Amino acid sequence: MTDIRYAQCWEDPATLTEGLEVTPKDDVVSIGSGGDNSFALLLSRPRSLTIVDMNPAQLFLVELKMRAIQKLDYCDFISFVGARPCPARNRLYRFLRSSLSESARRYWDGHAEAILKGVIHCGKFEKYFALFRTIILPLVHSRKVVEQFMALSSLNDQRTFYDEVWNNLRWRSLFHVFFGRFLLGHLGRDPSCFDHVSVDSVAEELLRRTRRGATEIPIGTNFFIEYILTGRYQLLENAHPYLNESNFCLLQDSVSKVRLIEGNLAEYLKRTQPGSVSKFNLSDIFEYMSQESFEQTLDQIVHASSSPARLAYWTLFVPRCVPTVLSRRAVSSRAATNLYDLTRTFFYGSFNLWNINYNKLRCRVGVFSENTERFSESRQREPWICTQESIGQPIRKPRTA
Ligand SMILES: C[S@@+](CC[C@H](N)C(=O)[O-])C[C@H]1O[C@@H](n2cnc3c(N)ncnc32)[C@H](O)[C@@H]1O
Repeated sequence: MTDIRYAQCWEDPATLTEGLEVTPKDDVVSIGSGGDNSFALLLSRPRSLTIVDMNPAQLFLVELKMRAIQKLDYCDFISFVGARPCPARNRLYRFLRSSLSESARRYWDGHAEAILKGVIHCGKFEKYFALFRTIILPLVHSRKVVEQFMALSSLNDQRTFYDEVWNNLRWRSLFHVFFGRFLLGHLGRDPSCFDHVSVDSVAEELLRRTRRGATEIPIGTNFFIEYILTGRYQLLENAHPYLNESNFCLLQDSVSKVRLIEGNLAEYLKRTQPGSVSKFNLSDIFEYMSQESFEQTLDQIVHASSSPARLAYWTLFVPRCVPTVLSRRAVSSRAATNLYDLTRTFFYGSFNLWNINYNKLRCRVGVFSENTERFSESRQREPWICTQESIGQPIRKPRTA
């Protein structure tokens, strides 16, 4: 079994929740990962929320967080998961253990160290950041410099500080080594994550995005940068919504609505009732599949979508864009652009929102492929209109006939 890759979600929940605008009428399908963004969507009280992940270990993590939300009080919850120091995690785990499914219990019984350290730190990706923070960063900047950087209160100060203090030769050199395709692929993610990536230098591109994150997005409220640089969240009211005390009661009330589904998203959607899903949080799953699988997954998304429906996804390096046809219900571009511009997870290449509407008119249906510059007209079972805003990357317009 693959182990936990992401113990937390590394996609900004504010971007997602503002983009998807979940309401109590929605039936949501959300990719699991660490569960955090699904919990953020749950705070909008959707009618139903189904979490899908093909890695069972990710779902064991989501299940453990769900039981901790249900069974613990707020202080014990944040301590148990690792957002606050706690000498009693083993005891709390023993308390939660009987409420877990048998497979989750077996998994966590075998991962005592992750429990002891706090499960939000146990992913391969979080451990990679820990290596960066404890080994690489101290070679470049002292703790005092890191603290100065995080205390800056204006974008102007951030720009000056980044250019004059932070961005020295040693920073750039070590960044290139540590966040290059090889180490990132082997230690932080998986080499296969780059199967469809064709950018020349992953490190160079990430460095460019990091500059943007460090200089164009307020650092004081960027809990992602805080975690990367310090390994903790000082103010939980500024951290992920599911860790915020003011959301805890609502989360406790709503978490029983969640259904966990292990498996590939496309396979799951194929089995669902047509028209039964109104909102999709797709994380960045298209990044890791071929163009063909992407198009097949879209088929299943359209099959499962109600009308209207909306989906959101990020891309990192693979421009999985624009299966776009006609515009009907586009999110206002100013609002959408603002979402990407302020997204605190600065390392993504784009944030994408699509609205799907069935339409009585027969309309041209297709998937525009950036790579092949062709319309695939193979999927005309249902007339539908899909409008997309892809933010962050130039949108290639589909060619008209
Ligand atoms: C796509 S990864 C990316 C993680 C992400 N950037 C984050 O911040 O959480 C998130 C999760 O999607 C799951 N996943 C990837 N492709 C999937 C698919 N086709 N169907 C279901 N789950 C998938 C992975 O197992 C992983 O747990």
